[in-house]
Amino acid sequence: MHVAIIMDGNGRWAQKRGLERSAGHRAGARVVRRIVEAAARDERVDMLTLYAFSSDNWSRPSAEVETLMRLFNRYLRSEVARAVENGVRIEIIGRRDRLGDSLVDLIEQTENMTAAGQRLTLRLAVDYSARDAILRAALATADDQPPESADRTQRAEWFAQRIAAATNAVDDGSCVDLLIRTGGEKRLSDFLLWECAYAELLFVDESWPDFDEQGFEAALGEFQRRTRRFGGLPDAVSG
Ligand code: IPE
Ligand code: IPE
Ligand code: MG
Repeated sequence: MHVAIIMDGNGRWAQKRGLERSAGHRAGARVVRRIVEAAARDERVDMLTLYAFSSDNWSRPSAEVETLMRLFNRYLRSEVARAVENGVRIEIIGRRDRLGDSLVDLIEQTENMTAAGQRLTLRLAVDYSARDAILRAALATADDQPPESADRTQRAEWFAQRIAAATNAVDDGSCVDLLIRTGGEKRLSDFLLWECAYAELLFVDESWPDFDEQGFEAALGEFQRRTRRFGGLPDAVSG
């Protein structure tokens, strides 16, 4: 299954403790490590997409943007060996043209070094906007059409591949099964709008720095208690 997480609430977590917002981002980065390891251990999860930096986050004060970019850079450097060891393939989705050259090099190195990972694909969304991805895919496919014979599902899969390409994803886009947002807000904030068409949504009040393996396992348990219908009827009703 594909789990996606909007890791929200770092700033408020820090402010509540009288700390700088950057302290919340540092604490949040430690939680990322733990949740990635929990996902890699869990046989049910084969893809984990984490919202690390949205295209709208560029509007934050430059010091905060720099902190976030530095933490991202540090995360990639420090995690690559462990990712290889744990069979985690790392991919970055989003725009790359506004990231520094050295960061783009690091992204490419990380993707290459972890390309053989089979247990879990970890997607980190950086300078990511779902609407921008959909729009760029639409513009790029103006002269490129799905096969005439394709049905609606096949056309959607065809377009999902174009969206994935528009975000520099290595693999095709895959539908999100479970979307978790920490931090108490109940909105998508321009994350995976296409891929979440039938996702189960779970909003948790805890801030991201307080989230942990137990919360992650509880979310997976909640997902398994839900009945997904995809517009049809549950088996018990349809016989
Ligand atoms: C999420 O935490 C991290 C990013 C958006 C990069 P926030 O920084 O949005 O924290 P709050 O929502 O202000 O508490
Ligand atoms: C979404 O959180 C982006 C990330 C978690 C990276 P935001 O804090 O930016 O979203 P809004 O502003 O509350 O919608
Ligand atoms: Mg926020």
